[in-house]
Amino acid sequence: MTNATEQYYPGLEGVIAGETGISTIAGGLQYRGYSIQDLAADSSFEEVAYLLIHGELPTQSEFDGFLERLAGARSVRESIHALYRSLPSDANAMDVLRTGVSILSHHDPDTGSNALDASKRKAERLLAAIPTLITSWSRIKAGNEPVAPRANLDFSANLLNMLHGSEADEVERNALDVSLILYAEHEYNASTFTARVAASTLADLHGAVVAAIAALKGPLHGGANERAVEVLEEVGSRDNAESWIRNALATKRLVMGFGHRVYKDEDPRATILKDFCMRIAPQRDATEWEEMSDIIEKVMWDEKHLPPNMDWPAGRLYRMIGLETEIYTPLFVAARVTGWAAHVIEQQSANRLIRPRANYVGPEPRAYAAIDSRG
Ligand code: ACO
Repeated sequence: MTNATEQYYPGLEGVIAGETGISTIAGGLQYRGYSIQDLAADSSFEEVAYLLIHGELPTQSEFDGFLERLAGARSVRESIHALYRSLPSDANAMDVLRTGVSILSHHDPDTGSNALDASKRKAERLLAAIPTLITSWSRIKAGNEPVAPRANLDFSANLLNMLHGSEADEVERNALDVSLILYAEHEYNASTFTARVAASTLADLHGAVVAAIAALKGPLHGGANERAVEVLEEVGSRDNAESWIRNALATKRLVMGFGHRVYKDEDPRATILKDFCMRIAPQRDATEWEEMSDIIEKVMWDEKHLPPNMDWPAGRLYRMIGLETEIYTPLFVAARVTGWAAHVIEQQSANRLIRPRANYVGPEPRAYAAIDSRG
C-alpha cells in the first residue's frame, strides 16, 4: 500500500489526473490546438462539435454528411413527450433532461457497444436530440405543445425555433452559437471528470453523459449561470450595485459567476462573452445590466482578486436574448455533451480504471456490539 497522506490534495487541486489531446488551458484555452478566440470568431458550433467528436475540423463533404446526420436525429419519440407531460410542472429542467437522456439510451441502436464507431454515432445522436429534449420540456411545462425540429435550420437557430415556435433573429442565433462554442469543452472539469470515471469502468456513453449531467447541475459548476442572473436581479439597479457587492463580501456570501479552480486572473471565455454582451446590450435595452456587472466585477477584483468566470456573462447574455433562466444550465449540456463525448471516447481508446485512494480519518478499530447492548 502507498502512503496516501503524502499525496493528498483536497479537491484534487493541482493534481494531474490523466492525459488528454482534446483541450488545454496552457497558453490560452484551445480545443485540439485551435484557440477559442479563433473558433468563437470564425467557426460555428457544429464545426466545433465535429472537431471535438471526430478529432479534426471537417472537410466540406465531411461537414455536409455530419449536418445531414444531425438533422436526421433531432426528433425524439412521442413516448418521451408523453412521459414529460406526466411529470410535475415544477420538476427541475436539468433533472428532466437527465431522465430524457437516460430514456434515449434504451432506444439507441448502439446501446451497449463501446466500439469507437458506435460511440461516435451515439455522440452525434445525443448532440442532435438534446436540444429537442430541452425545448420540449420547456414548452410542455408551460402548457404548450413541443415544436418539431426543422432540418433547414442550423443547430442554434433550430434550438431557438423549437423553444419559441418562431425563428430567432441573427443576433440571438449568433449569441447562442458563440456561447455554445465556449461551453463545449474544458479539460478535466468536474462533469467531464465524472464522465471519464464512469467510462473508465467500461460504462457506456449514455451512462457517462447521465452522470455528467448530474455533476453539471450543481451551483458550483454549470448551475452557476442561472445563479449569476439571480444575483443581477437581486442587485436590481446600477445605484445599488456597489453597496450590494460590498455587503455580500462583508457577509462572506459566495457570489455566483466569480472564481475558478484553474483561472486565477482571467477566464478567457468570460472575456469573449463580456465583449459580446457589451456589443448587443444597447440594442437589447440592457445597458444598465452591463454597468451593474462592471461595478460588481471591479469590486470583486479589488477586494478579492477574483475574476468573473464564463457563467457570469453567459447568464446575462441568455437573458438579453430572451431565454428563461431555468434553461441556462441545460444549454450548457447541449454544448458540453460534445466535450464529454470526446473525453469518453478518449478514455475508451486507452482505458485504465480511475480509482484513487482516500485518507482514512474514521474511528480506530473497535469491537462490534450486538444491537441490544448499544447505548
Ligand atoms: N464569491 C466569493 N468568494 C469566493 C468566490 C465567490 N464566487 N469564489 C471563491 N471565493 C473565495 C473563497 O471563499 C476563498 O476565500 P478564503 O480563502 O477567504 O476562504 C477563496 O476565494 C478561494 O476560493 P476556493 O473556494 O478555495 O476556490 P476553489 O478553487 O475551491 O473554487 C469555485 C472554485 C468552486 C468555482 C468557487 O470560486 C465558487 O464557488 N464560485 C462560485 C460558483 C461559480 O461561479 N461556479 C462556476 C464555475 S465556472 C464553470 O463551471 C463554467
